[in-house]
Amino acid sequence: MASSAYVPALAYPFLTRWYDAVVRWTTRERRFRALLLGQMDVRPGQQVLDVGCGTGTFALMLKQAQPAARIVGLDGDAAVLDLARRKAAAAGAEIDWRHGSALNQPFPDDSFDLAASSLVFHHLDRAAKRAALREIHRVLKPGGALHVADWGRAANGLMRVAFLSVQALDGFGNTADNVAGLLPDFMREAGFADAREIRRLATPCGTLSIYRAAKPATPVRPAAPSRRQDP
Ligand SMILES: C[S@@+](CC[C@H](N)C(=O)[O-])C[C@H]1O[C@@H](n2cnc3c(N)ncnc32)[C@H](O)[C@@H]1O
Repeated sequence: MASSAYVPALAYPFLTRWYDAVVRWTTRERRFRALLLGQMDVRPGQQVLDVGCGTGTFALMLKQAQPAARIVGLDGDAAVLDLARRKAAAAGAEIDWRHGSALNQPFPDDSFDLAASSLVFHHLDRAAKRAALREIHRVLKPGGALHVADWGRAANGLMRVAFLSVQALDGFGNTADNVAGLLPDFMREAGFADAREIRRLATPCGTLSIYRAAKPATPVRPAAPSRRQDP
């Protein structure tokens, strides 16, 4: 069921089966996933979490890039996880699929070396974005890192207009903070250090940003909340 804290992969459950095809043709998928994967640099033995893993495309890429890592895919949609399971089985890849909320993750503190999330944060309202980031921070080990690919600040007017297509489908409210470039601010508020945009990619649906943030090896006081007014 869609809510401000949960929206299915293509906004409506009946569209989920078309998700992979839509992403392939609208996001420069190969390029952005390759950039995210390269940036993560997964090592043997690492525990890696993909938050909002959807149909499992990126979790599968992680496993294929580093078979000696443990990959966990978390998603709130049981139907999308069935698609992910089938894809992984067809590829002979062992991935730990978990059904659960990004806002209340079913993992102990300090569980993962790395966390990834692609095309998920624009589905969450501001409170849910913040809650999901606090949860990712909690489940990462000290010294761990978060890598995110999602819609970001539009690089120019054309990209801003292109992004209206995503906003029309996924909602203007949940996507506004993405296009305002606020994800790194929210990461800092959640306790991450060195939160920044690493790359921007022009796509048919607008500017896709790749971010990185680190969980400090020793705890630091989280940044004060952004002074922008809550909607
Ligand atoms: C647009 S899809 C992205 C899927 C995948 N990460 C990718 O790159 O293709 C967004 C996914 O986030 C999941 N999602 C949205 N809100 C969630 C939440 N609160 N908790 C867990 N999963 C959530 C949806 O079920 C959906 O599979």
